[in-house]
Amino acid sequence: MKLNKEYKEITKDILNNENFMTLKNDIHHGSNRYDHCKRVSYLSYLVAKLLKKNAHDVAISGLLHDFFHGNTNDIEEISYLNHPRESVKNARKYFGITDDEASIIETHMYHYALLKDTFPFINKREKVNAKEYKPKSKEGYIVCLCDLLVSIYETGVFKVRYKACLYLFFAINLMNYYK
Ligand SMILES: [Fe+2]
Ligand SMILES: [Fe+2]
Repeated sequence: MKLNKEYKEITKDILNNENFMTLKNDIHHGSNRYDHCKRVSYLSYLVAKLLKKNAHDVAISGLLHDFFHGNTNDIEEISYLNHPRESVKNARKYFGITDDEASIIETHMYHYALLKDTFPFINKREKVNAKEYKPKSKEGYIVCLCDLLVSIYETGVFKVRYKACLYLFFAINLMNYYK
């Protein structure tokens, strides 16, 4: 991915930080969490530029929106609904983010909260009041929407790759069978 010069300048300290780089070890949508955060951040930055919103804040909060370790299904603190708070905690600890940036991170799961509010049978373990996750700024909506778009894209690519591997596996077995 070729990044814009201004974007690189805004994000270089985070992208090269050794604590942040450990996200490369966490699997996320079939890829790793470092790449996921970078995609969300850059797309949010471009959208904010287009709409003349605060591109700096969305670049930073997009990058740190999933700054946590582990699997969302296994640990309460980093569940689907709790991980934004954990990300804010880590982002404050390592990068001293502003309150506006923290608010964007805290509300980035609004898309999921809305979905769960509408269909409560999804992930019954967690109850939600979508209003609590409503973004407080246009920048918050940008990161939330970009996170959703990137997640759909990544999951789709992962499924295509997975299916391609299955077909390849099937074809190799078939060839061996008729050999
Ligand atoms: Fe997230
Ligand atoms: Fe995300």
